[in-house]
Amino acid sequence: MSPAEPTKNNGSSAIVVLDKFIQATRDSGYKGTASAISELVDNSVQAGATCITICVTPVSSSSTGADIEVSVCDNGCGMDPFTLRQALRFGGSTRFGDRSGLGRYGMGLPNASLSQARRVTVLSWQSPGVIRGSRQTRPNARPERVFTSFLDVDLIISGAMVEVPRPKAVTSIPAGHAGPSGTLVSWTQCDRLDHVRVSTIVRKLEADLGRRFRHFLWTGTRITINGNVIRPFDPLYLEPSNAGTGGRLFGEELRYEICANNGDQRITSTVLVRFSELPVKAWHVLSNEEKRRVGIAKGAGVSIVRAGREVDYGWFFMGSKRRENYDDWWRCEIQFDPVLDEAFGIAHTKQQIRPQSYLMEALTPNIEATARLLNSRARKAHFTVKTTERSSESERVATERNHLLRPLTASVDPQKKRLMKTLESAHPTLRRRSSGQGYRYMIVEGSVKDTCFYSFTHNKDKMILVLNQDHPFYREIYKPLLESTTQRDNKLRAKIEIMLLAAARSEAATLKTNPGLARYRLAWSNTLAAFLNEK
Ligand SMILES: Nc1ncnc2c1ncn2[C@@H]1O[C@H](COP(=O)(O)OP(=O)(O)OP(=O)(O)O)[C@@H](O)[C@H]1O
Ligand SMILES: [Mg+2]
Repeated sequence: MSPAEPTKNNGSSAIVVLDKFIQATRDSGYKGTASAISELVDNSVQAGATCITICVTPVSSSSTGADIEVSVCDNGCGMDPFTLRQALRFGGSTRFGDRSGLGRYGMGLPNASLSQARRVTVLSWQSPGVIRGSRQTRPNARPERVFTSFLDVDLIISGAMVEVPRPKAVTSIPAGHAGPSGTLVSWTQCDRLDHVRVSTIVRKLEADLGRRFRHFLWTGTRITINGNVIRPFDPLYLEPSNAGTGGRLFGEELRYEICANNGDQRITSTVLVRFSELPVKAWHVLSNEEKRRVGIAKGAGVSIVRAGREVDYGWFFMGSKRRENYDDWWRCEIQFDPVLDEAFGIAHTKQQIRPQSYLMEALTPNIEATARLLNSRARKAHFTVKTTERSSESERVATERNHLLRPLTASVDPQKKRLMKTLESAHPTLRRRSSGQGYRYMIVEGSVKDTCFYSFTHNKDKMILVLNQDHPFYREIYKPLLESTTQRDNKLRAKIEIMLLAAARSEAATLKTNPGLARYRLAWSNTLAAFLNEK
């Protein structure tokens, strides 16, 4: 084609050949439905929404892909007709090039939508007093008219749609979405969703969005999907989440001041890196199935969080360290602001990173070294667990001989009940019902609220002894025995455990008649600490 020859797009020389572009762009982009939906949730969050409602609904009795509709509705600031029309344009944005929030390319809404559906319709409404870019409105402000516009792949391909239709006013806010301002984006003729079943789509989205938007969920944003509240999932297991807590922050949070552009010190921003370690002792006994379900197995990796939203999860900044099974037992999170988009290699789909070499050089040495250290700690912890499995010897003996004693009544002490709940959430294995074994005894390690060197709680089917890891008894007497691999030390430790289990049980049995025992245990612990602590 000679430079002067027009394209075949209606004889025009428009830079974009619209019908071809729209088909090509549908293929070039999102890894999947969760990545695409995340763009809509990003927009809602940035519009100041506190409540985001996702619906995935079958539109006919058969629920094959094309018969599913997806919508995302929010109570954010909404859009005026001008902004709404811009919002549906590829490149249309009220924040193009902005580095202070999630969006900056003007691509998310149209591109993500058409990657999943042949048609996207947007309805948006604002109250008269709405302050642009915020949710603040005059008190008692009533919504103004609702405006709507749409894009349709088939109309674009046939040439019947060459620009975003001028927004039309509709009479009322969609049912169930009353509020002074908000936006509803709905995808129809969804021919590219990841799955054909509504239930599978919902299940996968629940898990994916719970992880991606965890930081927002923790700070009060409410996201529902088909009526169910999405719960945050913390891959570091530090914050309360679906799979429970149990991780421990490892080391200090690391901070790196990174240049937005290589070598140019004028614009810099902080990258935060933190690590967590998972409790091998408490969780290694989970079945493989359970480990997969709660995200431990095959969960090794680094969560990359941009402006509070996870954009990638994988094996980054590890230098020559390869991923191994032991790496499932520690996690890493890297947080950065969009100022560093170029350094992290963020593209407009915001679903993966391609770090530049100067960023790798800055982050890799520490991250790789810590990864190796955490790997060896996990390896060691597994080894200790194997050797201490014999420690369950004391639990087994006490469990077997419990019938020789007068049965314990369940504790009614609210403090003990609370302790039981906390322990069960931190140690999922404690939740298991005893299968016909009768009354069970268990020993766990942890931090207790007071300075006692051991504490306990019990209910109708088990007694749990908690050894206080912060007490010198643990450090000076128990831990050396625990780490020892000699049989003699193991036996000695089992006997000490038996002694403590007996003490705890006797205290539980006589608590009613002798409430001062808990005070005595505290005094004994403090004296012991005074004797054991080195000056
Ligand atoms: N839910 C919403 N509430 C209010 N305004 C919205 C909403 N969704 C989109 N917008 C407006 O539409 C514009 C275009 O959104 P779009 O997601 O396409 O681009 P962006 O968010 O600006 O950038 P990016 O491509 O990085 O996401 C936004 O700049 C915003 O003004
Ligand atoms: Mg956006």
